[in-house]
Amino acid sequence: MGTRPTAVRWEPARYLEFERERSRPCRDLVARIEVAEPHRVADLGCGPGNSTAILRGRWPRAECAAVDSSADMLATARASDPTVHWMLADLRTWAPVAPVDVLLSNAAMHWIPDHAHEFPRLLGCVAPGGALAIQMPANSTEPYQEALTRLQTRGPWRDVLPPADPDSELLSATEYYDLLAPIAREVDVWDTRYYHVLPGPEAIVEWTRGAGLRPWLAALASDVLRERFLAEYLEEVTTVYPRRADGRVVFPFLRRFLIAYREGRSNRRDRPGRVRGLASRTRARIRRTPSHRPSGSRSR
Ligand SMILES: C[S@@+](CC[C@H](N)C(=O)[O-])C[C@H]1O[C@@H](n2cnc3c(N)ncnc32)[C@H](O)[C@@H]1O
Repeated sequence: MGTRPTAVRWEPARYLEFERERSRPCRDLVARIEVAEPHRVADLGCGPGNSTAILRGRWPRAECAAVDSSADMLATARASDPTVHWMLADLRTWAPVAPVDVLLSNAAMHWIPDHAHEFPRLLGCVAPGGALAIQMPANSTEPYQEALTRLQTRGPWRDVLPPADPDSELLSATEYYDLLAPIAREVDVWDTRYYHVLPGPEAIVEWTRGAGLRPWLAALASDVLRERFLAEYLEEVTTVYPRRADGRVVFPFLRRFLIAYREGRSNRRDRPGRVRGLASRTRARIRRTPSHRPSGSRSR
């Protein structure tokens, strides 16, 4: 994985236009975490605080910390809940003062390179019996991303746009399993494809402006160029996401989930209900048994 342009500003209001759709995978993830009474929970890449609110909602009595490198996102988050310990920090260098029972990251880790290093490091920040729970978009082959790639190869922006979308270098589900299983008691990995119903193709462009498109727009030199780029992108998106009979568009969105549990005293007393929705799911639930235990640890 290469370096990522994470320094481009986030706009909390634009991001939250699709709060319902963006928070849904976080609800699904948090509902699956099998840790009963965590004392400390943390949200990495908390953004405007929507994922933190879900974490807090499940375990209101736990101490809660939340980390983000965007001052704009953090200002919105801070205003949402004064009881959370909000921290402006880079995830790549952040470490908790004491081990955390549930370490959550929703829709943030795809902005961080080198998962082979970062994920074992983060699992090492989890207390015995606790969980590292991560969700990331896995959309590099979806039509809206391919439309971006097509646009990139033509027009005046050809030589200035970043080379790839942030989730194009995600590991596969089994590669995440291989990475974490040697240092975890159990690894639960699955993909879910959501089918978001949006008012029209303009909404898909607006959705990407709130997240993945930011580095692309920031790389363009003027508003004129940005407007032209957005107009051409809308044309592409309109072609690949035709309106349904009711005038709306269906926007498929694939997300990769993983929960890795640390060895140690387990406080997994509750087993949350399974959440099922309008989604197709490829799910690999793989429990480690002693015979699968490898001899060495891959933690770096
Ligand atoms: C797409 S938002 C996710 C917000 C929220 N967690 C949610 O569930 O919708 C990604 C967040 O990750 C943060 N982020 C990206 N790279 C980061 C880094 N290296 N350190 C800290 N935060 C980072 C961004 O600032 C942004 O707020």
